[in-house]
Amino acid sequence: MKLRKSEHNLASSFNRAEQMSILSRREKHLGNGQKYFYEKPLHIVKGEDVWLIDDRGKRFLDVYNNVAHVGHANPRVTEAITKQSNALNTNTRYLHENVVRLAERLAATTEDLNVAYFCCSGSEANDLAVQLAKAHTKHQGCIVLSNAYHGNTTEIFQLSPEDCPKEHRKGWVKTIPGPKGFLEDQSAYIQGLKEEVEDLIDSGHGVACFIADSIFSSDGIYEIPKDFLKSIYQEIRSQGGVVIADEVQSGFGRLGQQMWGYQDDAVVPDILTMGKPMGNGHPVSALLTHREMVESLDQAYNGNSYFNTFGGNPVSAAAALSVLDILEEDNLIEEARQVGNYLKKQLKKTLEDNESVVEIRGKGLFLGIELDAPSKTAKAMEDMMNRGVLVGKTGPINSVIKLRPPMTFKREHADLLVDKIGQCLGAIS
Ligand SMILES: Cc1ncc(COP(=O)(O)O)c(C=O)c1O
Repeated sequence: MKLRKSEHNLASSFNRAEQMSILSRREKHLGNGQKYFYEKPLHIVKGEDVWLIDDRGKRFLDVYNNVAHVGHANPRVTEAITKQSNALNTNTRYLHENVVRLAERLAATTEDLNVAYFCCSGSEANDLAVQLAKAHTKHQGCIVLSNAYHGNTTEIFQLSPEDCPKEHRKGWVKTIPGPKGFLEDQSAYIQGLKEEVEDLIDSGHGVACFIADSIFSSDGIYEIPKDFLKSIYQEIRSQGGVVIADEVQSGFGRLGQQMWGYQDDAVVPDILTMGKPMGNGHPVSALLTHREMVESLDQAYNGNSYFNTFGGNPVSAAAALSVLDILEEDNLIEEARQVGNYLKKQLKKTLEDNESVVEIRGKGLFLGIELDAPSKTAKAMEDMMNRGVLVGKTGPINSVIKLRPPMTFKREHADLLVDKIGQCLGAIS
């Protein structure tokens, strides 16, 4: 039905009032009430593949939300969840085929990590990874990249220098620069790492682990420089530490070609963590490791093993299994490689003369456009939303535009994005 002009005004003023009400109630009652994107926060009411739709029916191309890995409201995922919810939802104290099948399928994506734990968030998976590392090595010291984010538990907040203020950081945490430092001077970088390791040993903490996100998102989005992880892993292992690949953002084929980001540097971590896209929005996360690590944890906890009430429940496992099915059936990892290459090429072509653009980086469907000033990045994010495209920002000073769409993003969407970003950055420069 077509609305007359006065009806249109009524509809939008009602929506505006409704939005303001949600906003003020949120600020009153939510702990993170003020943290939203955009000067006037968006009120999204529907998702459809790579599109998000607001309360006025405006459609936004979603180039930011990686959690909806196989597309917003994917009917195959919602059907899997509904079917299992209608049958049963319990926990891993009982036998169930789904969680075992999921563990087997995840293990088959790695070289030799064949034991899984299931949790509900990336933070929980990383927290457990560090518990395993500390139990196995009997050391406490951890090394992270200088602007990393790994989550929000008390322990993992310490390993998230992006958020944890330096003055709150405990002595068992040491940081080393992101891949940019390694690209600039490899031997100085490794020397710096050795010094941090020595510090941990001298202060009695020893080296329990190194943890890194395989696309280094909050350090500015970088492909793994050749031998970067290899050199760090070697140093950490030589001191008895274990290495953790955080694939919470980079995993499930997002970088194209391979299931996990670390596989690009031909290394094998001792522990692999995953989350965000794993259930396409359903909260499920996991950790893969070796049996000997698990035994160390059981020993350290006097035979009490790790239990997580919701982790690995049959409904979450059904959601994750359907995501794996869709990745395979729709060939989405190869698609991410092809569409990502195309998008990167088109971005480079369109933005080559733009003086604000410092560098275009990343891989597959995880790309970053570094600008010469964070104020321009913030402006671009807002302006792109007004043009109907949602992007994010990241990096040590938030100067990088973050492009990380659902894996169902196609060339036609890439063309629309490039067109809008060309106009946007042309107007900002
Ligand atoms: C690399 C990385 N690891 C871990 C996490 C924490 O995941 P969650 O928010 O599900 O706890 C995040 C979240 O942004 C992340 O980006």
